[in-house]
Amino acid sequence: MKIDILTLFPEMFAPLKTSLIGKAQDKNLVEIDIVDYREYSEEKHKKVDDYPYGGGAGMLIQAQPVYDAIMDKKTENSHVIYLSPKGKVLTQNLVEEYSKYEHIILLCGHYEGIDQRAIDLCVDEMVSIGDYVLTGGELPAMVLTDAILRYIPNVLHSGESVEEESIVGGLLEYPQYTHPREYKGLEVPEVLLSGNHAEIKKWRDDKRVEVTKILRPDLYKKYIKENNTKKDKK
Ligand code: ADE
Repeated sequence: MKIDILTLFPEMFAPLKTSLIGKAQDKNLVEIDIVDYREYSEEKHKKVDDYPYGGGAGMLIQAQPVYDAIMDKKTENSHVIYLSPKGKVLTQNLVEEYSKYEHIILLCGHYEGIDQRAIDLCVDEMVSIGDYVLTGGELPAMVLTDAILRYIPNVLHSGESVEEESIVGGLLEYPQYTHPREYKGLEVPEVLLSGNHAEIKKWRDDKRVEVTKILRPDLYKKYIKENNTKKDKK
């Protein structure tokens, strides 16, 4: 998979060089390129922003450098996503869908955003990482990249699976414990010490339902509804 991230602030993406995402790139499991809109500016001093027509606060990124950058990177297998609070709110199901694309281009706006014409001409989809407003699309692009890459084979440690993690299958993750067996009077649940894999699996499955019901009643209701529909169809 290849991800191109188009931005005015390439230096904000240093964290992608570390941890599992850094290793995934070293192992060529994914190619991530950070592209500066300024490289495509046709103006003096590489200027890429200007005042909005009609007035108003702040500056907009102009259509030309955004359009030219996308056209330079785009192939017939590309999916272009603009990170914006106006987009559809990201969910685990959407992340899984995006992980199937061969090439993703992520557009980051900054300041007041991007000239609408670049969006109308080039963007396949707008995505928001939640109903709050950030100073730009850079952090959302990193969030989306991280979430997508967890689906790429061999990015996670062996034995770790996306399937068991929080919010996959509509449920939260079960609680986990490590040494020592007792900490400040709190014991590790007995079943986890039993070595009985079937019992452990059952305990974990039950806990996922229990924890979701308590912490995220909205997800729990959805899970129950979907499971009942599945049963009805059988
Ligand atoms: N840009 C600014 N805020 C954002 C958000 N919540 N999601 C995606 N992009 C954004």
